Amino acid sequence: MNPFRFGNVVTGRYFTNREKEIKEITSEIKAGQHVVLMSPRRYGKSSLVNEVMKSSRVKWFRINMELIADEVDLANYYVKNALTLSKFEKIKHYLKNLRVQPYIQIQPTTNEIAVSFSAEKRNISTLLSDTFQLPEVIAKNIKQKIVIVFDEFQEIRRISPILERKMRGIFQYQENITYIFIGSQEAMIREIFQDKKNPFYKFGRHITLHKIDEAAFTDFILKRFSAEKIDASKIVKPILKFTDCHPYYTQQLCHEIYMLCENKSPTPGVIKRAVDQIVTEHHADYSRWWNTLTNTERKVIIGISSGEGNPTSQEFIKKYGIKSASTSGSVITKLIAVGTLIKKSGEGMKIEDPFWEKWILKNR
Ligand SMILES: Nc1ncnc2c1ncn2[C@@H]1O[C@H](COP(=O)(O)OP(=O)(O)O)[C@@H](O)[C@H]1O
Ligand SMILES: [Mg+2]
Repeated sequence: MNPFRFGNVVTGRYFTNREKEIKEITSEIKAGQHVVLMSPRRYGKSSLVNEVMKSSRVKWFRINMELIADEVDLANYYVKNALTLSKFEKIKHYLKNLRVQPYIQIQPTTNEIAVSFSAEKRNISTLLSDTFQLPEVIAKNIKQKIVIVFDEFQEIRRISPILERKMRGIFQYQENITYIFIGSQEAMIREIFQDKKNPFYKFGRHITLHKIDEAAFTDFILKRFSAEKIDASKIVKPILKFTDCHPYYTQQLCHEIYMLCENKSPTPGVIKRAVDQIVTEHHADYSRWWNTLTNTERKVIIGISSGEGNPTSQEFIKKYGIKSASTSGSVITKLIAVGTLIKKSGEGMKIEDPFWEKWILKNR
C-alpha cells in the first residue's frame, strides 16, 4: 500500500511530529483558553487539531465553515453536532427550549439525526442566539466541558455580516465551552482577532503553525519508505529541498515517487520523473488557475518563478513590463492573500505550489 497520503486530514502512521504543538494546544484547552491556530493552507492544521482532540478525550465537534452556505445552514449543522454530545433521551428536552422549532429526522438504527430549520428573515437573530447557546446548556447538563472547533473560520465573513458580533456576544459569557478557531488566510484572521474594532479582538491565544522540521520529516520519509522495504536515503534530501518541507507537497511527491519506484534503492532521477508526472497530471487545473490571472499578475508570477529578485524593484518592473512598483506591490498583496504567493522564510516571495511553478516554467 502507498505509505504516503495527502489531501485530507491524516492520522496514525501518516501523521508525524507536532509533539510540541499538541502539548501546547492540549494544555491551553485544558485551561479553558480559546485558541486561534493559523497557517497557510495545507500545513496540517486540521490534522493537528484532530490529533489533539483525539488524545484529549474531551467532548468536541468541528464546524467546517467552508461548507456552510448561510446562517440557517450554520444553525442546522451546529445544532445537529451539539446534539450528538447529549444523551439521546435528552434531545427532546433541548429542542423544546428552542424558540425557532426545527424539523428533525432520526435514523432509527443509528440514532443519527438531521436538523433543518426553516427560519424566516425576522427569526434569524433568535435562531442564532439559541443555536450558539445550546452547547453551553448541554455542557452544564452533562457536567462536562465541550470544545468547538471552527475550521477555516475566515469564511465567517462570507457567510453573514452579523455572525461575528452575535457569536462573540454569546461566547464571552460561556463557562464550559472552549473554542478553537482555525484559519488559512492570515490577513483576514489577523483582522478578525487583532483589530480593536472587531468583536473577536483578543478573544483567543494565537498559535502559528509552521512547516514540519526537516530532521523530523527526514525520519518520517525514511520510515514510511522502509515500511515498504524501500531505502530512501539517497532521495530524501532532494525531496525536501524541492518541497521546502511543506507537509502536503512532500506527501504528494513521496506518494508519486512510491508509484514510480522500480527498485529498492531509488536515486534522485526518480524525483524528476515524479515531478513531471504530477505536472502533467494536473495540467488542466494548472492552466485553469493560470487563466484566472490578470496580465499584471501573470507578469509578477513569471518573474518570481524565474527566480528574479524583488518584484517591486525598478529592475523587475522594467524587465517584465509592469506599470509601476505600486501596481506590482498591490498585485503581490492580493496574491499573498489568496495563497498563490507565499513569503519565504528569509526574504522575498515564492510561488506557493512548487508543481505549479514547474508547470509555469515548462509551458513558457
Ligand atoms: N503532521 C503531519 N505529518 C505528515 N503529513 C502531514 C501532517 N500534517 C499535514 N500533513 C499533510 O498535509 C496534508 C494537509 O493537511 P491538513 O491537515 O488538511 O492541512 P490544513 O488543515 O492546514 O489545510 C495532509 O493530507 C498530509 O498529506
Ligand atoms: Mg484544514
